[in-house]
Amino acid sequence: MPPHGCERKRDQDVPAEESKSKPSGSPLVVLGIETSCDETAASVVSWDGAARGRILSNVVRSQLAEHRPYGGVVPEIAARAHVDCLDAIIAAALDQAGVSLADLSGIAATAGPGLNGGLVVGLVTGKALALASGKPFLAINHLEAHALTVGLTDGLPPPYLMLLVSGGHTQTLLVEDVGRYRRLGTTIDDAVGEAFDKTAKLLGLGYPGGPEVERAARSGDPARFPLPRPMLGRAEPHFSLAGLKTALRQRAEAAAPLSERDIADLCAAFEAAVCDVIADRVARAMELAEPAFGPGVPRWLTVAGGVAANKSISAALSKVAGEHGFSLAVPPPALCTDNGAMIAWAGAERLARGLVDGLDFAAKPRWPLDPGAPAAIGAGVKA
Ligand code: KG4
Ligand code: ZN
Repeated sequence: MPPHGCERKRDQDVPAEESKSKPSGSPLVVLGIETSCDETAASVVSWDGAARGRILSNVVRSQLAEHRPYGGVVPEIAARAHVDCLDAIIAAALDQAGVSLADLSGIAATAGPGLNGGLVVGLVTGKALALASGKPFLAINHLEAHALTVGLTDGLPPPYLMLLVSGGHTQTLLVEDVGRYRRLGTTIDDAVGEAFDKTAKLLGLGYPGGPEVERAARSGDPARFPLPRPMLGRAEPHFSLAGLKTALRQRAEAAAPLSERDIADLCAAFEAAVCDVIADRVARAMELAEPAFGPGVPRWLTVAGGVAANKSISAALSKVAGEHGFSLAVPPPALCTDNGAMIAWAGAERLARGLVDGLDFAAKPRWPLDPGAPAAIGAGVKA
């Protein structure tokens, strides 16, 4: 373990010659801890240098029930819930994997971005376990873990393009290598999942809103309520959802009181607009990413985040990928949403490259993957 206080420079910190590292000798076995939002998760992953890793356990406890009455994640409630159950979740992950702390090669915990209280809970626990066991500690960027998941599930090597669409994030990212990421597009206002959640709330549907809106949209007519497609055709690859949400509210107010049919039609209109926007913004990211793929290099698009579960959105992505010569790789839903396996896998990738962290590594509620990307685009952009 490095001495305390020797945190390495974290952004863009993998020199090209180091980036092909694979574990040699015995497999790496890494515990991953995730507490950045409303899932308490722990997992053990092993990697013997083969293209993919092996998930030995993957335990996730969602806090949906605690947050549902408030229609969104309440940071204080989230942090307390992590404190209450993290020890048991880690014990279950080790138990199901059939390993003890002594068998681990390293301990990885999400250090950011996310809600500070939750991050501190996972980080302090990971550091304490590393200190007690004498194992290396790995502070993981949650976005990097999402970005690297297709390596774990499909053995897909960089470069590839990635769309992250969750309740807190909306980004297109070029994964050039492990540790080298270029953010192409981001949202200038709401995240896509957040827009689904707000739409559901407005229409009196439950939380989380994405699955509710998708269910209602199935029987709706997307053409009855025309909605705008913000940013469509714009050269900069960013997203904007706020105008769409406002237009939907105006349509809903004009049609009130809303019948089941009205709600279904509004949901269908909203979903269709989001599909068009995502397809257009991803197409623009593909154009911008083109120089990163040399001749003959396969072009891959991968997706992460809860919104990836939406069938219309994945169909739209599949279509736009095909039109631009890209193949689409979508990890299983349980690995698209927040989980410990992606943290353990990112930990294994970093450990194989000797990129371990000091026990003084502080939580980073804001931690963009691409330090070169502008921090703010328009009003209040999310990292
Ligand atoms: O990745 P995730 O589980 O958690 C974080 O945000 O970190 O994503 C949750 C988000 C919520 O906003 C939820 O409404 C959205 O993903 N979501 C969906 C669907 N399932 C979940 N959005 C659209 N369609 C879905 N089927
Ligand atoms: Zn996430």
